[in-house]
Order: sequence, then C-alpha cells, then structure tokens
Amino acid sequence: MINDLVVKVANLTVKFNSFYAVDDITFSVKRGEIFGFLGANGAGKTTTIRVLCGLLYPNSGSVNVAGIDFKSESDERAIKQKVGYMSQRFTLYDDLTVAENLTFIASLRGIDEKTYLKRQSEILDFISFARPLNSLVEDLPGGIRQQVSLAASLLHDPEIIFLDEPTAGVTPAMRSRFWELIKKLARGGKTIFVTTHYMDEAEQCERIALMRAGKIVALDTPSNLKKIAFPQKLYECEPKSEISYSYIKELKSRQEFEYFEPFGLRFHAAFQKTPAAEDFKGSLGANFKIAEITPTLEDVFIKVTEGTPS
Ligand SMILES: Nc1ncnc2c1ncn2[C@@H]1O[C@H](COP(=O)(O)OP(=O)(O)OP(=O)(O)O)[C@@H](O)[C@H]1O
Ligand SMILES: [Mg+2]
Repeated sequence: MINDLVVKVANLTVKFNSFYAVDDITFSVKRGEIFGFLGANGAGKTTTIRVLCGLLYPNSGSVNVAGIDFKSESDERAIKQKVGYMSQRFTLYDDLTVAENLTFIASLRGIDEKTYLKRQSEILDFISFARPLNSLVEDLPGGIRQQVSLAASLLHDPEIIFLDEPTAGVTPAMRSRFWELIKKLARGGKTIFVTTHYMDEAEQCERIALMRAGKIVALDTPSNLKKIAFPQKLYECEPKSEISYSYIKELKSRQEFEYFEPFGLRFHAAFQKTPAAEDFKGSLGANFKIAEITPTLEDVFIKVTEGTPS
C-alpha cells in the first residue's frame, strides 16, 4: 500500500463572507510522504489545514482524510482522532510546565493515563528531551519548545501530522534538528503535511504544492517544479565592475526579461524568446558576467507565487 492516498481533496472551497480564502483546490497526499505547502502570506495554507484537521467545515468540495469523508460537521471528531496538528500561532501554554502541557493535551484527546505515560516517555525519547519535565515552557529555548509542541501533537499516535510553520523564528541548527525528526516520522510511516517559508526546508519535501490567492498554482517534486517553472534557461548575472543599485532597478522594468530577480547587485534572469531579447542579453554582457544556473526553489517560488499572474 505504498501509494495509498491519505488526503484526498477535490474542488475544496472556503469562503469568509464573499472572500475566497481557498478557491477550488484539488490535490492528494500519499501515505508516508513529506508534503510541503508553500505560498505567500494569506495564500490560504492555514485555512486549508484547518479544514484537513476537522476544525473548519468547507463551503464546498470533497475532503477525505485518513479514509474519513468530511461530509458533515459531525465527521470533525473522527478526523481529529486521525490527525496531529501543530498550529502556526498557538503551540503550548507558556506558564505551564512541559508535563502539565502534555497531560492537558492528553486529557483533551481522551487518552487514558496508562497509555499516556507510555506514549509520553516514547515521544520524549523520540525528541531526545533531556530537561526536567517540570520545566516551565517559557524557560525553554524556542527550538526545544517547538520540539515539545511536536511531541504534543503526536500523543494520540496520529496517521497524519500537520505542521504549520513549525520552525518560524527557530535558529538554523534547531531547524535542521527539527527536520531530522520530521524525516524520522515519515520513515516510520507517518504522513507529514508541512508549511514553511524557508526554501531549504521546502527542498526536503517529496512534493510541494504552491498556493497563490487561494489556488494551487503548481504541484510537483522540487526538481520538476524547477523544470516546469523555467522551461527556458536561467542565468545569474554578476557585475563585472562597480555598478549602482539604481541601474539594477532600471533593468527590472525591461520587457526582454521573462523573469528578473535581484539578489543585491547580482540578479537572476530568464529572457523572452525573441531576437530582441537575444540582442539585449548580448548587450548585458558588456557589464555583467552571465552564467547559466539551475533555478533554486526560491526562483520557482518568486516566479510562480509572486510574479504577474498569467
Ligand atoms: N476567520 C477568518 N475570517 C476572515 N478572513 C479570514 C479568516 N481566516 C483567514 N482569513 C483570510 O483568508 C486568507 C487566507 O488566510 P490563511 O491564514 O489561510 O493564509 P496563510 O497562507 O496561512 O498565510 P500565512 O503565510 O500568513 O500564515 C487571508 O486573507 C486571511 O486574512
Ligand atoms: Mg498560515
């Protein structure tokens, strides 16, 4: 059952009054997959996750999570049993200890004490939690707090874990440690659905959906996304001699670019397929060293989610 689908979404739409926060999206997630959900602020990622966690009933479309059809609000409870959720804003109570937070969540989940104690020690071992259980959450470094929060979302042994920007504001070393845990969970058969604004993290997902204004505008593996977003060659242009930033800003408005993104005084560019653009590229060679590069996910993200809509 390697390829069975644990999340199946078809034509999902969520409206807040007349505003479409999620606008007719269709996708599925495979069991054991690390599925990345990317998009600019307000694209609709959290809203989608709230539906998939049984927290919000959609306006229309069909949703199946871990075999349960979300057909009416009465299905919410069954869905909640199957999913773990680490929310974007709220994670743990700062003024409670680690143990108090975990027992509180276990009681909300209806986990009996014997099961809880067993799960608690397994999960704290899993995150290698080495501090006293009576540490106040507010005294933990941010990265450790996020790991405890992950542990809390695993207490009821969910099939799918939704992580909404779990590493926002966490140091690079702690982010990489968090991703080791994510990969270990996936190897153990858990499905991971994760949002992030960090492209190095997105690169570690098996597939990525890119959202823009409530719609999924691309969905594929990181390497396929790069091919699809940049069918033409991408170049890095580096000034040969001193150049002003205003010159770079002026360049940006040139019609010959299919894609233009400055990184300081360097820029990444793809050119229109016209003879004029070829000439223009040639003329740029006077001031810039132009080298063909493989697109980064950041290029893909900028082009697909922030560029002019086609
Ligand atoms: N309860 C609500 N009532 C009204 N509008 C809402 C509500 N929840 C979300 N929205 C709006 O829906 C849109 C999508 O929000 P959502 O939180 O899903 O975005 P996001 O992709 O998670 O963004 P971010 O990267 O900032 O977390 C936003 O414009 C937001 O303001
Ligand atoms: Mg969000």
